[in-house]
Amino acid sequence: MSAPKKLFIKTYGCQMNVYDSERMAETLGEQGYVETKSADDADMILLNTCHIREKAAEKVYSELGRFKGLKAEKPDLKIGVAGCVAQAEGEEIMRRQPLVDLVVGPQSYHRLPEMEAKARTGDKVLDTDFPEEDKFERLKRRPKAKRGPAAFLTVQEGCDKFCAFCVVPYTRGAEVSRPVDRILSEARDLVERGVREITLLGQNVNAYHGAGTDGSDWTLAQLIWELDKIDGLQRIRFTTSHPNDMQDDLIEAHGTCSKLMPYLHLPVQSGSDKILKRMNRSHTAESYLRVIERIRAARPDILLSGDFIVGFPEETEEDFQATMDLVKEVRYGTAYSFKYSTRPGTPAAERAQVDPAAADDRLQRLQALLTQQQREIQDSMVGREVGVLFEKKGRFPGQMVGKSDYLHAVHVSDCTREIGDLARVRIVSSGPNSLAGELID
Ligand code: SAH
Ligand code: SF4
Ligand code: F3S
Repeated sequence: MSAPKKLFIKTYGCQMNVYDSERMAETLGEQGYVETKSADDADMILLNTCHIREKAAEKVYSELGRFKGLKAEKPDLKIGVAGCVAQAEGEEIMRRQPLVDLVVGPQSYHRLPEMEAKARTGDKVLDTDFPEEDKFERLKRRPKAKRGPAAFLTVQEGCDKFCAFCVVPYTRGAEVSRPVDRILSEARDLVERGVREITLLGQNVNAYHGAGTDGSDWTLAQLIWELDKIDGLQRIRFTTSHPNDMQDDLIEAHGTCSKLMPYLHLPVQSGSDKILKRMNRSHTAESYLRVIERIRAARPDILLSGDFIVGFPEETEEDFQATMDLVKEVRYGTAYSFKYSTRPGTPAAERAQVDPAAADDRLQRLQALLTQQQREIQDSMVGREVGVLFEKKGRFPGQMVGKSDYLHAVHVSDCTREIGDLARVRIVSSGPNSLAGELID
């Protein structure tokens, strides 16, 4: 038997890419590949890329440049680019960086085995189609392979919303929901392999409308209630949601489904109605706040998370202040904020841009406020009892690290529990990026 070939995958961007990388690794496992943590001993390098902001896309080219020496030493090394940069730039990638052998878009991953074989013959291979077949069904799983207690599961992909700044509808294609039975069997398989927490993924996950077990289209809440029945699955999360798709049954589930965790990522992008309109977000600051109000009525302790863009074309200081006001009203437990980045091919790219120095200044002020809120909410956990799912050993002997119901990292010393255990923990202190707690017997 020949030695297994080694695959090095580096993942950029969102959780969906993390899920995809895992599926690609398992699929290439069928071709005799095992994963390696070092690019130096790889027979194949795959960069799973993100195109959301200019910096993210440029990172890929600088990373590729670093493989030049390696490729010169190992002519058999194959280098592939997957993900959203692959979809957006296609052949251009091979023109800009001739050492790339293979370019594969997010909807073609199931074709990787054939592509790899073709690349091995010395050909350059490209596939950025949006094929009809269901890639999820054709991607292989590594049967029964043990895995960590928390896993992602993509249930919906693509986006039809076309926010004026965003590349996702172009790189991931139209919104598609996977059928319920396929998701259930994938979830059961994950649980058999040791998974205790599943995060359902989709670019617009709460717009989920997959074929249910009774033939009708199901909502995300219906899917969650079905997953709730799986023995051994202890926690359910989902991300990312759009404010306009926060339906009543999903809001209600946050109050009634004990496996559904009290955490919701609900991006708003801006607090100014003028800017929201120009962004084509189709919600207002007020309608967003009303949704939050309903969610908090169903689950008062829910921790909210958001995404923000500052410096979107035509944003004035007054518009920015509206964003600051909205943040003060909501109080986020965690948030991601970005300076607007012009993306070729999106509607906003053609518009008059905000002065970059003003945008930088706004980003700093917004981040200071968000960090302060994050810290206050984290500190307010001290003294409370929370569930913690242990995911790994800590740096010190006897210490374990896990995630709380609210997704805070929690360290527990002298911990008698194992990885994969869900325990009740009393929070005793709050540090810069994590909490410390003790087991409650
Ligand atoms: N589907 C999610 C977000 C997907 S992209 C939603 O509807 O909100 C993740 C985040 O990246 C976005 O929420 C947005 O805040 C940010 N983002 C997207 N395009 C961007 C751009 N051109 N410049 C800066 N940030 C951007
Ligand atoms: Fe992008 Fe808007 Fe779709 Fe989110 S809803 S993925 S921001 S187009
Ligand atoms: Fe990036 Fe594509 Fe995700 S652009 S954020 S990797 S969907």
